[in-house]
Amino acid sequence: MAAKDPTNYNDYIHEPNNQDLGNIPGDYGLPLIGHSISFLKDPFVWARAQNEKYGLLSRVNTFGSRGVIALGPDLAQQILVDSGRNFSSRMGFMDRVASFFPGSLIMEDFEHHKHQRRIFQSAFKFDALKHYTRGINNIYDRTLTSWEADVGSEIKFFGHIKDLLLEVAAEIFIGEKKDGGDFKKINRAFTNCVNGMMYIFPINLPGFIYYKGIKGRNFLQKYFGKLVAKKRNGDGLDMLSHLCREKDENGNFFTDEEVSNQMSFLLFAAHDTTTAAVTHTIYYLARNPEVKERLYQECKALGKDTLDYDDLNIMTYMQQVFNEVQRMRPSVPMVPRRTIREVEMAGHIIPAHTMVYNLPRFSHWMEEYWTEPTKFDPDRFSPERAEHKKHSFIFHPFGGGAHKCIGMHFSQMEYKCFMYKFMLKFDFESRHKKEPYMQSLPLPKPADNMPIMLIKR
Ligand code: HEM
Repeated sequence: MAAKDPTNYNDYIHEPNNQDLGNIPGDYGLPLIGHSISFLKDPFVWARAQNEKYGLLSRVNTFGSRGVIALGPDLAQQILVDSGRNFSSRMGFMDRVASFFPGSLIMEDFEHHKHQRRIFQSAFKFDALKHYTRGINNIYDRTLTSWEADVGSEIKFFGHIKDLLLEVAAEIFIGEKKDGGDFKKINRAFTNCVNGMMYIFPINLPGFIYYKGIKGRNFLQKYFGKLVAKKRNGDGLDMLSHLCREKDENGNFFTDEEVSNQMSFLLFAAHDTTTAAVTHTIYYLARNPEVKERLYQECKALGKDTLDYDDLNIMTYMQQVFNEVQRMRPSVPMVPRRTIREVEMAGHIIPAHTMVYNLPRFSHWMEEYWTEPTKFDPDRFSPERAEHKKHSFIFHPFGGGAHKCIGMHFSQMEYKCFMYKFMLKFDFESRHKKEPYMQSLPLPKPADNMPIMLIKR
């Protein structure tokens, strides 16, 4: 089946990015490179410097493209809630995501987006999540048992959790077991695809990472496409099966291409974000032994080996830890949009077709809202302190509005079930040679991949 023709989009999708921002406070940075280097080094530090010089809204120039950076909770709310339908997610992500994930949810706006989002309805319902929880716990049991062989030696935690969550992605999302014939191929294609998308030079020639990425993406697309008919007629409970069987508002199945597009992006949206969340948790727990101990005691108090779906809400301290990790190091460092028409922001007129960037971490570290924002302090999310409730967009790791993360509950289930089993089975100490550089791009993580020593409980 062929995909629906998306040409009834308004004209804005055919317009080039606006490059004339002379009336916005700020500068265009160095000749040729603009602000690219400071941005790549640390977007958050750079955003803070921009704010100090020019305020919450200023013009920027990165990788040959001009735009505005819009900081703080009020502007985040304006962009994400977007009650005036002024901001396009599709055009915000056009530069890179379009080549790898065309037609995916984040690449659609308004009615097109609403239509496509229906494809996920049953995949994220209560019963489906409950089923995934059981499957995920089985995978964790298997893998954490194999990690026992590493007790007493140093491991790079990031690599371990990345592999484990890829296994989850293959089995729970696609229904492909680790020992199944296609697991390695999917794994390789997916890894190449993500590396290619994050690669700074989009050179589509053999030998380049970008080229390998596009090949990986094409493999996944074909692979999912071949599975659709079988899964549509089957009774599988993996995510892909749900997507295949879902129907649109007219009672028709989504096309094979639509299913493949959404599935490829789903893997991407789910994997690196949760990997970053768990890796940063290990980083902060290793540096805050009292938090680690309190979390361990919360897990132990439940008195069982496995966290079931119905137990997730009982883990209140774990939820606070998750929130605090996302506040300190949000898994999605930046949200891009493009204006559809002229729009007023923070007292300035932003022309149509202008790229607009919001950085959640800027809001997450604002001294006006948070007590000692540089301190790792999960209790700031306790019911008594509830610092995140001071503004509805002061804490938004999962975004907001129409594009709010569809995997929000799934990711916290995946996170909590892992942390629960891991904390009960192992203690750990960090083994950084020196304080690591905390990278934000392409994926937020400690640059040394978080070396730890595993200790048996
Ligand atoms: C810690 C984990 C995660 C974080 C912090 C996170 C964060 C986000 C954010 C900020 C957005 C909105 C981006 C924007 O508006 O530009 C988003 C969208 C999305 N996320 Fe997540 N995510 C996580 C995990 C997941 C998981 C596990 C899945 C799938 C199982 C997922 C699927 C998606 C999808 C499909 C979208 C696009 C939604 C749309 O455009 O309507 N995410 N996520």
